Amino acid sequence: MGGINFFPNDLEVKDQKIILRLDLNVPIKDKVIKDDTRIVLCLPFINNLIEKKAKIIIISHLGRPKGVSVPELSLTPIYKYLKETLKTNVYFFRGVFDDDVNEKFSYLKGGDVILIENIRFFKEEAEDDLNFSKKIGALGDIYINDAFSCSHRKQASVHSITKFVKRSFAGPLLKKEISAINLVIENKKEPVTCIIGGSKISTKINVILSLIKKINNLIIVGAMANNFFTYKNFKVGKSLVEENTKEVIEDIYKKAELNNCKILIPEDCLVGTSFDGTSKKRNLDEVKDDEIILDIGDDTIENIKKKINESNTVLWNGPAGYFENENFSKGTLSIAEKISKNTIEKSLLSVLGGGDTLAAINKINSKLSFSHLSTAGGAFLEFLEGKDLPGISVLK
Ligand code: 3PG
Repeated sequence: MGGINFFPNDLEVKDQKIILRLDLNVPIKDKVIKDDTRIVLCLPFINNLIEKKAKIIIISHLGRPKGVSVPELSLTPIYKYLKETLKTNVYFFRGVFDDDVNEKFSYLKGGDVILIENIRFFKEEAEDDLNFSKKIGALGDIYINDAFSCSHRKQASVHSITKFVKRSFAGPLLKKEISAINLVIENKKEPVTCIIGGSKISTKINVILSLIKKINNLIIVGAMANNFFTYKNFKVGKSLVEENTKEVIEDIYKKAELNNCKILIPEDCLVGTSFDGTSKKRNLDEVKDDEIILDIGDDTIENIKKKINESNTVLWNGPAGYFENENFSKGTLSIAEKISKNTIEKSLLSVLGGGDTLAAINKINSKLSFSHLSTAGGAFLEFLEGKDLPGISVLK
């Protein structure tokens, strides 16, 4: 896989200080972890390093605090979770990285774990600052990136840190993610359908334009579809829309035609007057001024199911609606169930990605099956697009 240095299982790490970059960016509300999937996936490797008696220094971000300490984005709930789950000493570091920080960590014994407070509380992290990278790099002997989902970020703990550590590796989760996505890219069978949801068209425009050249159907759902509704002169009430998307959407339609890619947008929807309210079905020309579009409607669900039936490969990123309120979760859950059914019964090749998509799927009680479920959102899309991710390039 492109010369990436994967962590060798037989490497002697006893008493070595390992800086382990994880993505513990999980949904937390009122200090309670709402979905622990990302943490659970990291546990086997942490336990493996504990057994090998390495000294494990975990770095992660949570949310986007923009370089300041935001109490709601503290990793404290994750520290408590790790302390309860891991059968070893687990410490929490909330200090700054001054010159004697290494001495502060000298109490760590082989098999101990220390979690560093949200690395994005330091503004130097997002700036990929070299001095800061040097300081965090000095914490360990070995660096392991096991956070595929933030490897598209050129940030200190993912990128420049590797300049200041003797040896850098990709961890097993990262390996699993890229192997699975590569397998799909190499073996994808047409027709290929890509379902893109979420809210911001501007953050996904490049990936959409690049995917159009490689796929047969593009289905737009979620708040992103609102921009397509306004483009087609439908009123969207109080729904989330982005400014100045006319040209972008024009470009998408033009490129789609050129590349023979069909675009499907919702034809009906569910609206509410607030995010926690009840739902009403609306055709696109019926949305009132005080309403918010919060899910796709039944006719759209049927159309999407038909497209999934016609497809041999489905890639999906971003929920179809505001699934956190069950009145608006039907679209997302119906798509998930249909993709799972076809994966089992018709050997559909299916790859799903994104923190929200994952959280939505975890709300379903029945067991679902997909070819690969990625923890990554943006990184998953950029990797599909064929981009070199900064956090992976430095591991080659
Ligand atoms: C994610 O949730 O996709 C990752 O944790 C990356 O988060 P970011 O988009 O804030 O960099």
